[in-house]
Amino acid sequence: MCGIVGYIGQRDVFPILIKGLKRLEYRGYDSAGVALLNDSLQVYKKAGKVSDLEDFVASQNMTSATIGIGHTRWATHGEPNDRNAHPHLSQDGKIALIHNGIIENYGSLKTELESRGHVFKSDTDTEVLVHLIEDIYHNANGIAFEEAVRMALSQVVGAYAVVIIHTDFPDLLIGARKGSPMVIGIGEGEHYIASDAAPLIEYTRNVVYLNDGELAIIDHNELTIKTIDNVIKTPYIQELEMHLESIEKGGYEHFMIKEIFEQPRSVYDSIRGRINVMDQSVEMAGIKQYENKWMNLKRIIIVGCGTSWHAGLVGEYLFEDLARIPVEVEYASEFRYRNPVVGEDDLVIAISQSGETADTLAAIELAKSKGATIFGICNVVGASIPRASDAGAYTHAGPEIGVASTKAFTAQVTALILIAIAVGQRKGSLPKDRVRTLLNELETIPSKIEKALESNDLIKVIAQEFKDSRNFLYLGRNYGFPVALEGALKLKEISYIHAEGYPAAEMKHGPIALIDEEMPVVVIATNHSNYEKVLSNIQEVKARKGKVIAVATEGDTIMRNMADYVIEIPDCDEVMIPLLATVPLQLLSYHIAVMRGCNVDQPRNLAKSVTVE
Ligand code: G6P
Repeated sequence: MCGIVGYIGQRDVFPILIKGLKRLEYRGYDSAGVALLNDSLQVYKKAGKVSDLEDFVASQNMTSATIGIGHTRWATHGEPNDRNAHPHLSQDGKIALIHNGIIENYGSLKTELESRGHVFKSDTDTEVLVHLIEDIYHNANGIAFEEAVRMALSQVVGAYAVVIIHTDFPDLLIGARKGSPMVIGIGEGEHYIASDAAPLIEYTRNVVYLNDGELAIIDHNELTIKTIDNVIKTPYIQELEMHLESIEKGGYEHFMIKEIFEQPRSVYDSIRGRINVMDQSVEMAGIKQYENKWMNLKRIIIVGCGTSWHAGLVGEYLFEDLARIPVEVEYASEFRYRNPVVGEDDLVIAISQSGETADTLAAIELAKSKGATIFGICNVVGASIPRASDAGAYTHAGPEIGVASTKAFTAQVTALILIAIAVGQRKGSLPKDRVRTLLNELETIPSKIEKALESNDLIKVIAQEFKDSRNFLYLGRNYGFPVALEGALKLKEISYIHAEGYPAAEMKHGPIALIDEEMPVVVIATNHSNYEKVLSNIQEVKARKGKVIAVATEGDTIMRNMADYVIEIPDCDEVMIPLLATVPLQLLSYHIAVMRGCNVDQPRNLAKSVTVE
């Protein structure tokens, strides 16, 4: 959470910072600020979106500069107002700093600094860090400024990605990271620094990902990397694979709807190159690498948060069903703070779109320390989770900008289906003809998603009817249950309507009490193993005057007579349900949120990349 961007070179810095911040706004959007350095520092900060900052700066007498830093905030310490917005300044006003993360020991550092005469202007942990750097710089005789930064950071407990500038050093930008991502873009006589590659992509394709515990000392021409323990490192320059079109709206009104409609392509990209048509098998490097381990597993533990946790739940059903391996699915935040029984015999699958979620990363570290093998399933290439994993698979969904996850979920499920088939096949728990059926089926899924998207207009009508509801219930059984959870989460996230997902049979153990004529109930009612049981659940809802919106298999005439609204999806193998049935639920949430006037791409209080625990 929080997006940071910095530049040093010859260009006018302000437009670079503003454009970069807009691309990083998915990381937080409750306030924004910039600091520009020419002879002195010009600092502009505003509560609200990056566009509010832009409007504010337009009314000011800003002088152009060629070095600067910018920040878009997701508040942790201190409410989102102008005062708490970043950048924060040192007491003498000469150092400006932006920060993503949490300084956990800021309380004790603050007390110490206050006793030495420092006065703080904000409620943030970040301001303490910039004062600490200043204090060390002034009191340790004659040390280099970068050395003061390094010494200050070594006193910090917590997570950070920071960028710092100083008025006395007009050709210097210092960046550092521990637990929060940071990438440096290398241009001709210029450097960029940001939380991810989106702000740099139109200027350079050469990047260096900073590792945890590293500092980057940057001038317009040179980049030096050293560790927090003062060891010089050689920068490893990589070429970016991202394309500009993939991070722009491309004619759609919102990123979310663009990403929903991208799913035929993103699911195809997740499958691409992984099916060996000749011998009808799945080829995944991450499985080959640990083949023995996968074959002899007693148990898999899946960790994740939010939507990724829902994909993990699908994973549980898949691995049990297709590979006959017992699975436990854990919220990363719970797993890491319990005393979990995990060891060398276990394989832990960590699922994450961003690859930066703090709790998932910590769960990985814990499992690793106990000897488990880590398999990461991640969308963002080069992120911290894949780097901390022993092996893994990228989901190849392309950049996901809308805060509510859509195409990343279906890509995660696709990767899990492929892995479960690969393991089931190798273990012999899946007969050859079943493997063939599944692989053939998987290849038809992109066009079936295309078909499912054709319900968009009908879904708009349903959204109109239910947009003012105060509650929603989502029900499903077997593979439909994680879909129900994901549908409810989507609605909550972007429309602020209370929604709960339940296993359909559990309805009678509580939620049934909520049902009346005001209550829309979305039921995943496809023509699969529990079809009759789900029909009975629908009857129970109808008997209490609830309104039923069914997601059903196309051509289901029984459902047409029973439910108030039927959204049809193409017939598919039961294990593929999450890939198809989730799509109309994403659309339903989207249209309801738009009709309610909500900001679907940047829902209140949320952030896409949760780098604080
Ligand atoms: C946040 C996002 C969700 C996401 C979750 C886990 O809450 O808003 O969309 O599912 O984090 O993120 P990850 O990047 O680990 O999948």
